[in-house]
Amino acid sequence: MSDTTLLVFRGDSIKTGTEHAFPVPVLEGMVVLDAIHWIQAHAATDLACRWNCKAAKCGSCSAEINGRPRLMCKTRLDEFAGEPIHVWPMRAFPLIKDLVTDVAWNYQVNAEITPFTPKTDEPVPYRMAAEDVERVFEFRRCIECFLCQDVCHVLRDHDQKAAYYGPRYMVRIAGLEMHPKDTVNRTALLHREAGIGMCNITKCCQDVCPEHIRITDNAIIPLKERVAGRYYDPIAWVGRKLFGSKPESTESNLHLGRGAS
Ligand code: SF4
Ligand code: SF4
Ligand code: FES
Repeated sequence: MSDTTLLVFRGDSIKTGTEHAFPVPVLEGMVVLDAIHWIQAHAATDLACRWNCKAAKCGSCSAEINGRPRLMCKTRLDEFAGEPIHVWPMRAFPLIKDLVTDVAWNYQVNAEITPFTPKTDEPVPYRMAAEDVERVFEFRRCIECFLCQDVCHVLRDHDQKAAYYGPRYMVRIAGLEMHPKDTVNRTALLHREAGIGMCNITKCCQDVCPEHIRITDNAIIPLKERVAGRYYDPIAWVGRKLFGSKPESTESNLHLGRGAS
């Protein structure tokens, strides 16, 4: 058994909180969340952290480890052999205490998106082409860890939460828009409230996704193309006039008390 040192942020404000050093005994296979639990059991019983599954599936244990947004339960200590390990809360959201942030804004955004809406007489079970199932399934792998939201500079550095839903919700909208049995058109929502134009395709979100969802390549870029076709393509405009299009999402489910936080 060897020791490593975790430098863990403690406090209820990023401005006034500080890192505390905790030497932790290391066993083979330990992850950062194990080390945090060891600290809670032996050195700082009031250290706040959020977790649930310890299996990289609940999305609760998101933090910034040596400056990179990661799941604590999926980050092994032996990756950092000989280096100090800095563990900080996500910086894009208001801090509650220590490693716990208030991610409620994300759920408010989620409530603004018209959910899956099949035809009322759509036969069940749904019959879909295998390639359609596969395309939509990628987006359904999201565990709502919000690491992509945390790294997105639009939300994190510019705090444009009133103007952009963020990459997690581009993924959700892509999963709905590309579902062959869905009947709603969310292009106007993307263009206006969701603010897809704010994304400049830096791909940082895609790089941190623990589910390896190709957020920019498979969700954001195709959605941007839909918005461009809807608002800036005169031939598509004529096509819609002649042949119609899916009904757009209504305003009734928008602005359910969401505000920038
Ligand atoms: S690609 Fe877009 S959504 Fe992803 S981090 Fe960059 S600006 Fe944000
Ligand atoms: S898209 Fe990936 S990074 Fe973003 S919330 Fe879902 S699982 Fe987490
Ligand atoms: S504890 Fe569930 S994802 Fe880490």
